[in-house]
Amino acid sequence: MCKTWLVISTMESSLCYLISKCLIILLCLCIHLFTRFLSSTQPLCHDSESSALLQFKQSLKIKESASKIASWKLGGDNNDCCLWKGIDCDENSGHVIDLDLSNSNLYGSINSNSSLFQLDHLQSLNLAFNDFSYSEIPARIGQLSRLTYLNLSSSVFSGKISPLICSMSSLQVPNLSNNSLDGSIPQRLFNFSYSLQVVNLKSNNLQGGIPQSWSEVNNLKLINLSQNKIQGQLPKSLAYCTALENLDVSDNQLNDVFPTYLAAQG
Ligand SMILES: *[C@@H]1O[C@H](CO)[C@@H](O)[C@H](O)[C@H]1NC(C)=O
Ligand SMILES: *[C@@H]1O[C@H](CO)[C@@H](O)[C@H](O)[C@H]1NC(C)=O
Ligand SMILES: *[C@@H]1O[C@H](CO)[C@@H](O)[C@H](O)[C@H]1NC(C)=O
Ligand SMILES: *[C@@H]1O[C@H](CO)[C@@H](O)[C@H](O)[C@H]1NC(C)=O
Ligand SMILES: *[C@@H]1O[C@H](CO)[C@@H](O)[C@H](O)[C@H]1NC(C)=O
Ligand SMILES: *[C@@H]1O[C@H](CO)[C@@H](O)[C@H](O)[C@H]1NC(C)=O
Repeated sequence: MCKTWLVISTMESSLCYLISKCLIILLCLCIHLFTRFLSSTQPLCHDSESSALLQFKQSLKIKESASKIASWKLGGDNNDCCLWKGIDCDENSGHVIDLDLSNSNLYGSINSNSSLFQLDHLQSLNLAFNDFSYSEIPARIGQLSRLTYLNLSSSVFSGKISPLICSMSSLQVPNLSNNSLDGSIPQRLFNFSYSLQVVNLKSNNLQGGIPQSWSEVNNLKLINLSQNKIQGQLPKSLAYCTALENLDVSDNQLNDVFPTYLAAQG
């Protein structure tokens, strides 16, 4: 008798426990849905940034309406620029941090007064596979000081690489490959470049020598300079570049591809 009572009472208490647990879960779900609802009705995007984006759109020609950028417009449910195609915002601050307009049929050029440079929280910029009709890469990109990722490959840029771009302290993986860039590689590129990991300058018309002064390039793993018109010798300081796994200088006009001081290291 006593035994059965005990069993029933433990059953009851575990039932109670189960029900209270369910209630707590339900409450949490309600709170979650409510905050989701609140945040979905408030645009995350800053007005100044959405107008900068729209001005940037206006400054370019778009070859096809299928472009990601065609969806950028204000009105109706569309007021939050953080929901536009190719854009990511910081969840807390609402600032635009990622702009991906690769393959977007963009045509034209980016002036130094472009509203793009008002997006000064950008961490990632991808304009690869567009047609900037042999215009120069605007030096002001170098003032987007939080940029870690920059992809301007295959975008029909020409002209010199501005030293300003090479002095960006947080840049990790600049990809300027497959354009018509000429002039020489700025001396500054490998100078105090703690953050650089992968440098891709392949398939351009770069001339002159490889910068000789290298310091603090401790994280540099891969450099691709192939298919340019680079001359001279590999820099001696390369020997101290311990993280470097891959250096491709093929298809250039270098005269001493495997210098003895490197070969000696094995
Ligand atoms: C930006 O500069 C270009 C020429 O450099 C000029 O044609 C254009 O009007 C300027 N735009 C603004 C918004 O100042
Ligand atoms: C640059 O963008 C192109 C096109 O989206 C992509 O194929 C390529 O992998 C990107 N490069 C880097 C370094 O991410
Ligand atoms: C190089 O860029 C051109 C556009 O200028 C593009 O058509 C071509 O596919 C690119 N090549 C590679 C290998 O990415
Ligand atoms: C750079 O971009 C090209 C073409 O857009 C892509 O093939 C390559 O993987 C990218 N890679 C690096 C390391 O930058
Ligand atoms: C390398 O960087 C240092 C420190 O910023 C600077 O003093 C020096 O002039 C730079 N050298 C070159 C060749 O840019
Ligand atoms: C460098 O670029 C060339 C030309 O596109 C390519 O064939 C090669 O694989 C690349 N090298 C490395 C190490 O990525």
